[in-house]
Amino acid sequence: MHLAPLACHGEPALSLPPSAIIAGALTRTFGDRIAVNTVSFEVAAGEVFGFLGPNGAGKSTTARMLTGFINPTSGRALVAGIDMAQHPSEARRHIGVVPEEANVYADLSVWANVMLMAELHAVPKATRIERATHLLERFDLAGRATQKGAQLSKGLRQRLMLCMALVSEPQILFLDEPTSGLDVASARLIRDIVSEQNRTRGMTVFLTTHNMDEADQLCHRVAIIDKGRLAAIDTPDALRARVNSRRSVEVRFAQFSGRPGDLASELDHTEVTLLPNGFRAYTPQPGALAQEIAVHGAAMGLRIESMATLVPTLEDVFLSITSHAAAKADAKEVA
Ligand SMILES: Nc1ncnc2c1ncn2[C@@H]1O[C@H](COP(=O)(O)OP(=O)(O)OP(=O)(O)O)[C@@H](O)[C@H]1O
Ligand SMILES: [Mg+2]
Repeated sequence: MHLAPLACHGEPALSLPPSAIIAGALTRTFGDRIAVNTVSFEVAAGEVFGFLGPNGAGKSTTARMLTGFINPTSGRALVAGIDMAQHPSEARRHIGVVPEEANVYADLSVWANVMLMAELHAVPKATRIERATHLLERFDLAGRATQKGAQLSKGLRQRLMLCMALVSEPQILFLDEPTSGLDVASARLIRDIVSEQNRTRGMTVFLTTHNMDEADQLCHRVAIIDKGRLAAIDTPDALRARVNSRRSVEVRFAQFSGRPGDLASELDHTEVTLLPNGFRAYTPQPGALAQEIAVHGAAMGLRIESMATLVPTLEDVFLSITSHAAAKADAKEVA
């Protein structure tokens, strides 16, 4: 069998999948405040990448630099291999953006808003009508096609923003807290459609969020940003493994069968959170702790109703990483 050479003229024999997004030492200052400080990461094509951080951490500022809404003070932003500062129009052709504040045209109808966005991306007429019809149905907005943007509630506006961002079938979608403040059904609809577009079209997604469950469900990898600096970047599972000591045992007792607080205070060297009729105790060895609770509980006349071992959540990871960083910063200030 004859195999064609993989490469010639000195090209690498195996090429890695291209990066959809590259942040290269991105930095942005506002006056003397450093909002984003030398942040570097790459997002692979087809990846759903979560960007987590407390309020004011620099998430939106990073998203705005990557989408060309503001210029970095220093560093580079590349999307689909194109430098955003050098070729902004070309770069923007590959992306869809849902910014922090939904900004639909208030005086245009739902349908006209989607059409306008499709025209801006030069989507041919027949295709834009077909896509808009499908998207409005999928986002449960078909019955509101003639309503003006101004008449929409926050959740409906956000769904319209998603339609507008998706009508050009972008290679890369940027979402800045897409489900914040939305009801459970709207939030789920948005998550389902984003995930569907990732699976079926291979769309890359950059998503900022405060919702740890959302990041856990949707993201292949997650970055945590704190005070403008990248504090961690990994898969949700690998991040959870970092805080294994945050495994816990949650126990509930039959009502009026004793005082769970007394038992909780007997568990030496264990951090405990009291709950109605029980408590949650954190430990790296949940098996041994569960036994201890059962033995001591029986001796104190407490009847166990339920007991479960809980693995760390992304929220535990987030709190551990960001409070650690805050403690370090405080220590520096004192020194
Ligand atoms: N246009 C601006 N002018 C001055 N300061 C700004 C501006 N935009 C952002 N900042 C500051 O930069 C820092 C990062 O803000 P950014 O909006 O990126 O945070 P965030 O992580 O998106 O927060 P949130 O979770 O509240 O949305 C904050 O201290 C903020 O006050
Ligand atoms: Mg923000």
